[in-house]
Amino acid sequence: MENSLFPKVDYLRISITDRCNLRCFYCQPSGEVPIFHPHQILSYEEILQVVQAAAKVGFRKIRLTGGEPLVRRDLHQLISRLLAVPGIEEVTLTTNGVLLEDLASSLFTAGLRRINVSLDTLHPLKFYRITGNNFFHRVRRGLEKALALGFEPIKINMVVIRGINDDELEMFARWSLATPFIVRFIEFMPIGPRNGWHPSKFVSIAEIGSRLNNLGTLSPLAPVASDGPAQVFLLNSSGKIGLIGPLSHCFCQSCNRMRLTPEGRLRPCLLSDQEIDVRGLLRGNGSEDDLVRLLDQAVLTKSRPVRSLEQWPQSGSRGMSRIGG
Ligand code: 5AD
Ligand code: SF4
Repeated sequence: MENSLFPKVDYLRISITDRCNLRCFYCQPSGEVPIFHPHQILSYEEILQVVQAAAKVGFRKIRLTGGEPLVRRDLHQLISRLLAVPGIEEVTLTTNGVLLEDLASSLFTAGLRRINVSLDTLHPLKFYRITGNNFFHRVRRGLEKALALGFEPIKINMVVIRGINDDELEMFARWSLATPFIVRFIEFMPIGPRNGWHPSKFVSIAEIGSRLNNLGTLSPLAPVASDGPAQVFLLNSSGKIGLIGPLSHCFCQSCNRMRLTPEGRLRPCLLSDQEIDVRGLLRGNGSEDDLVRLLDQAVLTKSRPVRSLEQWPQSGSRGMSRIGG
């Protein structure tokens, strides 16, 4: 039975590890995020079992996230096996790009094409201040490699934080004119404990849009499914720009996604702490039918909070690196 008021839930975002080789201040405050033990994290076999069941329930698209997914060994093997699951049409990746230069070839050979790279600044020194690491040039080389190999599209995700990187909006936008990268500006969300969010640091996509209008003409493109919650624009008829406003716009009614956490809990909604223990079933001799039933139930009961801006700061007790961005 499907609830026809809402889009079909067909998109599973899997956080395959909570580990990361960066320490972005808003994601992993003071670097003291607890790390799951390896035996707590779903194995590739277990992830495959979940995806096989998910495909039977109607999931078609998988995104691998983290933490930083590229820190997990032999990721290309997981990707090619996921792409072989009947019903799965697409496997995509969100990465910070630090290991991309080394791994891009094997990922491409495995069949990966669509990647999102998180990058909040184009200044090496500021990169260090935001992420706690000096890897800016590695990310830049990783992006060049990905471009040369033929990954497409390559989307750059920039979380806009006032006083930190909002002075770079124009520079990022110009970058979209000079390269095939789709540059997406994301509103800073108050997710996770002590992540530094404050109203004074928040920049709405309305403000971002009007600042970009000073650079040239922003023409809206007709929405396509792969845009997700992004509103996509052409800047001066050549650069592709996305605006993602999780705070100023409520996506809940059109949400088609669920998340799987590294230790195997299904989170039907980013903003609800409701979690369904999938690992317990996997390790407790549950059958595939049991798994299919569990996922089906999760889809049917997926919460769609109608929320206001004021509700955000209280929501969520898990940091982003343990949910999956
Ligand atoms: N607000 C917006 N985006 C965030 N991300 C992590 N934490 C936040 C936040 N508080 C983003 C990362 C990356 C993706 C995994 O999630 O920058 O693009
Ligand atoms: Fe790592 Fe991404 Fe969190 Fe930065 S935002 S610490 S890159 S998981």
